[in-house]
Amino acid sequence: MQHQFMERKDDRAQQRRSGEAAERPVSNHTPRSRMQRIFLVAFAFVALFGAQAYAQPPLPADDTHKHLGPATCASSVCHGRANPDDSTTVMQHEYRVWTREDPHSRAYALLLNEQSKAMARRLGIGEAHEAKVCLDCHTDNVPPERRGEQFQLTDGVGCEACHGGAEQWIRSHVEAGASHADNLAKGLFPLPDPAQRARLCLSCHLGTEEKYAGHDMMAAGHPRLTFELAAFTTNQPAHFVVDADYVERKGEVSTARIWAEGLIGSVRAQLALIQSPRFDGHGLFPEIGFFDCHSCHHPMDDVRWSSLALQRGLAPGALRLNDGNLVILIAFAQAVAPSRATGLLQGGNALHRASQQSRSALRQKAAALAAEVDALQAELAGARFEAGQLAALRRALLQRAAAGDFRDFAAAEQAFLAVETLSLELEDEGVLRPRLNRWFASVRDEHRFDHRRYAAEAGRVAEGLR
Ligand code: HEC
Ligand code: HEC
Ligand code: HEC
Ligand code: HEC
Repeated sequence: MQHQFMERKDDRAQQRRSGEAAERPVSNHTPRSRMQRIFLVAFAFVALFGAQAYAQPPLPADDTHKHLGPATCASSVCHGRANPDDSTTVMQHEYRVWTREDPHSRAYALLLNEQSKAMARRLGIGEAHEAKVCLDCHTDNVPPERRGEQFQLTDGVGCEACHGGAEQWIRSHVEAGASHADNLAKGLFPLPDPAQRARLCLSCHLGTEEKYAGHDMMAAGHPRLTFELAAFTTNQPAHFVVDADYVERKGEVSTARIWAEGLIGSVRAQLALIQSPRFDGHGLFPEIGFFDCHSCHHPMDDVRWSSLALQRGLAPGALRLNDGNLVILIAFAQAVAPSRATGLLQGGNALHRASQQSRSALRQKAAALAAEVDALQAELAGARFEAGQLAALRRALLQRAAAGDFRDFAAAEQAFLAVETLSLELEDEGVLRPRLNRWFASVRDEHRFDHRRYAAEAGRVAEGLR
């Protein structure tokens, strides 16, 4: 796990505490009422039909617009300023941030390094930088007919891989009076909506039916993929500031909601993959990438099996699905929507048990659990999470961590990330930081994860709360 994220979050916490964001000028050229109407309509749809029935916009990789390439955004009067401009709504140095600090601008170049060459050799896929399996996640790999004149595959994961093909909005989005809603209608991808943002990031950071980094790729040398939306948004690093004018143009979204929607999106994407042909793998075994990596990869004398509620019914030695996100999602539901928590827990337990029976049983239980997740999301649409609920959730996560409930690394990692994000939201992470740092040291390196030390350090963080 990356440490950098804690330092970056520190900056942000400081920025937030010093009130710097609130001092940025407020622009009022966006017709706010229209924006609010759109949000209301969207919420009404979600409430009426559930999140799934609400038509999903196509992901940028599948949209119908030409992608023009980051060079078209890079002029110094557009997004290529050397320094942020405080007098405009957006900072205008996004291109600089992307080229200098954002790993996405180097995603294609990675395919030319020794690690990628070795992976491609082991997998027998020719050159990594020419292989579709790699290009689909490491650049904006739209088909040739959707590439503009300045588009280059070598640019990596560029602006339009996230914001959508700019063909229709490149001109109009800078016109006086153009609103965010106008841009969305012309194909801008709705990234301010945390559920859609999660869906997009996860399309590469977990995978989809079309593109997936399975166990063969991991064993050939690809890093294990892990994701948490709040931390990854900060770490990218963010090239936007959620200040007063941002809120006016795009609506307010708390860090806790971003985190929660990331968790919901992760569980939903994983369940969709389990139901897809990806799960079938290549031969005797299903795709191993869906299972908890460390349920196989740990020393035999480090006995980790225990009977947890979610995994009840699994015999010692059973191969476990990766439930790191689900465990935390259930704890979250227990704190903010208790009436939904039992269904999620039972659905998750049924999924684990079905994983020991047959693929068809597993798919059935995955679909049933996905419906529970949709119901939770619909119930929470528009809800504000109270500080008391978030504090209770943090206490519960720490107590469970201290009691040894998170012995699987994936769950341990997600629990840490959750507690850190909650502490930022509750604005007491400064006091907890030394203890959080020591706890972090116990999950930082997955190869040396010691669940006993992890539990002991979690106990110390919990004591720090009083
Ligand atoms: C499903 C999307 C996906 C696919 C397919 C994929 N990658 Fe990646 N790759 C990622 C993501 C996301 C990261 C960043 C992971 C992180 O740091 O959290 C990454 C990281 C890497 C890294 C950086 C490793 C490091 O230690 O910094 C290399 C090298 C790499 N990928 C090569 C490849 C090659 C070669 C292929 C094709 C065989 C490939 N990837 C296929 C998504 C993908
Ligand atoms: C990995 C995904 C990703 C990439 C790549 C990316 N962005 Fe963004 N960008 C985001 C997210 C997430 C937001 C926040 C949601 C929003 O406001 O749309 C954002 C917001 C913005 C904003 C809005 C700021 C505001 O105050 O309203 C601008 C402008 C922007 N990006 C420009 C760019 C440009 C230019 C590039 C390429 C140089 C780029 N982005 C590349 C994800 C990305
Ligand atoms: C088209 C695929 C794609 C999309 C979409 C995408 N990423 Fe990535 N992301 C990658 C790849 C590939 C890497 C690895 C690049 C590298 O290591 O240089 C990466 C790396 C990162 C990293 C660095 C991880 C690390 O461990 O150092 C962060 C943070 C990140 N992405 C956040 C996001 C966020 C937030 C979103 C959604 C707004 C997003 N990404 C969307 C492909 C993608
Ligand atoms: C079902 C058990 C199982 C699970 C779950 C599993 N692996 Fe493996 N893994 C194996 C086996 C078996 C090998 C082959 C070991 C060998 O060749 O000595 C292997 C090999 C590897 C290797 C190459 C090591 C080597 O010695 O060549 C890596 C890296 C790896 N796995 C990563 C992962 C990651 C990441 C995950 C989770 C996404 C994961 N594994 C999940 C069983 C598993």
